[in-house]
Amino acid sequence: MSSIRNIVILTGAGISAESGLKTFRAEDGLWENHPVEQVATPEGFARDPDLVQRFYDERRANVLAAQPNAAHESLGRLEAEFDGEVLLVTQNIDDLHERGGARNTLHMHGEVLSAWCRACDVRHKWEGTLRDGPDCPACGKASMRPDIVWFGEMPYQMDRIFAAIAQADLFVSIGTSGAVYPAAGFVQEANRAGARTLELNLERSAGSHFFDETRLGPASELVPEWVEELLADSPT
Ligand code: APR
Repeated sequence: MSSIRNIVILTGAGISAESGLKTFRAEDGLWENHPVEQVATPEGFARDPDLVQRFYDERRANVLAAQPNAAHESLGRLEAEFDGEVLLVTQNIDDLHERGGARNTLHMHGEVLSAWCRACDVRHKWEGTLRDGPDCPACGKASMRPDIVWFGEMPYQMDRIFAAIAQADLFVSIGTSGAVYPAAGFVQEANRAGARTLELNLERSAGSHFFDETRLGPASELVPEWVEELLADSPT
């Protein structure tokens, strides 16, 4: 009988790769063709807002055209059937977890389907483009930016994430290179909390040595297998 009651899952771009969305650090990755400083920093946005808006307009269109894969859907099933708490922390800005059935999802790096007005601070669900400088539906000012956490900005809901990890019995990292903090440090927090730690990834990550167990392979195979195993072992 499993003693696992609280699970924290961290996902990265790798879980959406098989849905056709590019990752960041592969050879054909997003950062190969778009220097981070230009498109993913507040300074880059101040320097060339049009370039940045176009970069995220393109990613927004790609997300809308993509479909969740078996990994997203199996995490949705886990949330629905697991008799305990599941917090899904994603670094991804797509909505494939939600479309795959996940409900308790926390986007620590923001969401590309959300626009943030710098004048009135209101966030809006946004599926169109931002390159044409549309007016904010709340205050009417043309001052909306992608609701994305850029390098140098504070990721969202960090207190909630650390509180959940402190209570976790199991921490699972899926499809992330472990290249970017604070997310890359979550496994060490989980180890300090005494949680079991599992990594599901296509290749060993920068943080693999911190995990109790690493399974290598595509998320669309590893995640459903792991969910099946966990649900079979957990109390009904
Ligand atoms: N299944 C499982 N893992 C995969 C798959 C797949 N099909 N394809 C790729 N991966 C793995 C890669 O091996 C790699 O370890 O996913 C990881 C993707 O790593 P990155 O491209 O660095 O993406 P991520 O870890 O999400 O980046 C973290 O960096 O630039 C910032 O804000 C950006 O949120 C992003 C953060």
